[in-house]
Amino acid sequence: MTAKLIKGTEIRDEILKELKVEVDKIKEEHGVVPGLVTILVGEDPASISYVTSKIRTAQNLGYKEIQDNQSVEIKEEELLSLIDKYNKDDSIHGILVQLPLPKHIDEKKILNAIDPDKDVDGFHPVNVGRLMIGGGEVKFLPCTPAGIQELIVRSGMEIEGAEVVVVGRSNIVGKPIANILLQKAKGANATVTVAHTRTKDLAFHCKRADILVVAAGVPGLVKPEWIKPGACVIDVGVNRVGEKISEKTGKKIAILKGDVDFDEAKEIAGYITPVPGGVGPMTITMLMRNTLRSLKFHLGIA
Ligand code: GUN
Repeated sequence: MTAKLIKGTEIRDEILKELKVEVDKIKEEHGVVPGLVTILVGEDPASISYVTSKIRTAQNLGYKEIQDNQSVEIKEEELLSLIDKYNKDDSIHGILVQLPLPKHIDEKKILNAIDPDKDVDGFHPVNVGRLMIGGGEVKFLPCTPAGIQELIVRSGMEIEGAEVVVVGRSNIVGKPIANILLQKAKGANATVTVAHTRTKDLAFHCKRADILVVAAGVPGLVKPEWIKPGACVIDVGVNRVGEKISEKTGKKIAILKGDVDFDEAKEIAGYITPVPGGVGPMTITMLMRNTLRSLKFHLGIA
């Protein structure tokens, strides 16, 4: 293997340690801790698992956390009232509504009801706009793209002036990571191309990339011969391609495959993220960072 493996699990642990130091210091000096509420509607197993991990991480950092589970039958109006209650609660600095929501609820309406200053997911149009404008305007970066930026920065790969190619234009990953990396800011200043399903010659663009971020949701989409030797490859794809029995727990678990052919790509790339254990662990970590950041804004120390 020639590429340096960018280990999301190790970088996660490093950042969580840094956050804990800050949380303890703020608690000592100001007598408050970050407060995070997660609202889960229904009993989708994947959503339950995500929310449980978020709450467990918040607990380990000493945050105040509320796991507010609601029936799948909840009416849109009731959910809006619940958000209003947490918007007004001074001990809550971050509100997260786990997605997807049931079909009878308008997801956009719900996300827009969250106070932008408590929108630790960074999904509210106000925060999307703040990211577009950049500079001092930015309050919360969406968690997965913020995690990708941290991975690249901490890997030691130079972002300034680099040719970045993003494959995928979703609102959650593709568009925001392109925006983050082109900002006039530290850990950015890149030249960014966004490729997508209508791109004429995907291979051509990928081959030019010093940093290739793939978030297309298509297993093995990026071929090894499309990777520039020495490039930094960030694979955001988490595709379930089958099931196996876990050696650790004896339970059935999903076999995950990224959007990049890892075994061959690692022989060409300079840096590469594995799937799982690359980008995945960063999302919750950035949620924790956003929640702490929200408290710091609240205290006027951000
Ligand atoms: N569902 C899957 N990922 C996410 C996320 O990052 N935030 C929210 N709110 N819901 C999700």
